[in-house]
Amino acid sequence: VKVQVRRVGLIGCGVIGSAFLELARKKHSFIKSYLGIDIRIAALCDLNPKIKRIAGKLGIPFTSKAEDVINNSDIDIVVELIGGLNPAGKYIMSSLRKGKDVVTANKALLAGRGRKIFKTVSETERALGFEASVLGGVPIIKSILDSLQFGGIKQIYGILNGTTNFILTEMSKESESFSSALKSAQAKGFAERDPSLDIKGIDSLNKISVLSFLCFGKLPQPKKILAEGIERISPRDISYARELGFAVKLLSAAKSSNGKVEVRVHPALVPLGHPLAKTDGALNSVFVRTLTGGDFFFSGLGAGGKPTALAVLSDVLNISRKRVPYNFFANSGNNFLFLDKGDLIFRYYFRFSALDKPGVLAKISKILASYRISIASVTQKKSDLSQGKGKIVPIVMLTHAAKESDILKAKAEIDNLSEIREKSQMLRIEEL
Ligand code: HSE
Repeated sequence: VKVQVRRVGLIGCGVIGSAFLELARKKHSFIKSYLGIDIRIAALCDLNPKIKRIAGKLGIPFTSKAEDVINNSDIDIVVELIGGLNPAGKYIMSSLRKGKDVVTANKALLAGRGRKIFKTVSETERALGFEASVLGGVPIIKSILDSLQFGGIKQIYGILNGTTNFILTEMSKESESFSSALKSAQAKGFAERDPSLDIKGIDSLNKISVLSFLCFGKLPQPKKILAEGIERISPRDISYARELGFAVKLLSAAKSSNGKVEVRVHPALVPLGHPLAKTDGALNSVFVRTLTGGDFFFSGLGAGGKPTALAVLSDVLNISRKRVPYNFFANSGNNFLFLDKGDLIFRYYFRFSALDKPGVLAKISKILASYRISIASVTQKKSDLSQGKGKIVPIVMLTHAAKESDILKAKAEIDNLSEIREKSQMLRIEEL
């Protein structure tokens, strides 16, 4: 077999970068004999002096200036693993313009500036690999681009953030507090440098935006999307939901129907029997519904150095083998609009903290009725609080399908009742 040499320049050697370095070295001779590709890490760029020492030991040329990698004409593929918008975006654009193919794990950049980056990819006729940006080691992007999209994707649902799924799983076992579960997720390398990106649902929003672009050809505007995190979920909601046959998950969704696409991220009640509900701990998963091929389910480690490094390596190898650039805008002629968040329709779960006295439920139902919201079931839970004179009880209610904007107005009115003692909890139910 004729062996091809591919020179890789790595910018950013943190959790993923160092795992990639290790994996590429470990698999070097297998890759060479199996694929006939000799992957050489020809430059390593990082700001950390510790990495300089490691590079020295491995005999890899080291620099602290990304430009040294980007301007090095011997380098074929630039792997960007520093994350964030700046200067990562600048490095990717100049690498493409210098004729290099690029591999990145940068979901925030693709979600925020994807149009510009994909346009540069088309103009320069280079390849861009970003498998590592969504679902870490699970090959969901390749599966969409190479296969599923030809079956007509209607809906894609995912649990796209390991940190929050880990926290919700721990909370459902009631063995660990929110903050200690977060600490263990951080220690395992799952969390973002700023974990509020995980907790507030921003990391999931970035990932579902990338998936929505691949499935439907357009990137949504982040500000217009319903994006909520898990801060307001309490263990009692998780246990009440379970009694009703649901798990509470931070769910991301992109769906197309009747010429409109909805993209959203929020905690949701997912039927316990569904594989998404069984995605536990730091695992991620994606459920894809296609027109002609039926339903597909992917699950695996979506965070952490080793799984993500596997996605980076697989992109480097794919690009080295064929380097046929995708036309990422092939789908963009689709004439659809994004659905306004107020027009979303769900069944809802409510938990009211109400004074236990005659007429309270009547007041709540009256407000709901005034917005044409129909009640499906109501249960009053055991009281575990008392405030001043009155007894406070949790009332758990499920509604029939209703419009989000009506629900929000009704909730605001209910929260204003003097008998309601804390902000009511509202969670959306995902029918799947
Ligand atoms: N912070 C992300 C997560 C990992 O917790 O899933 C990388 O995308």
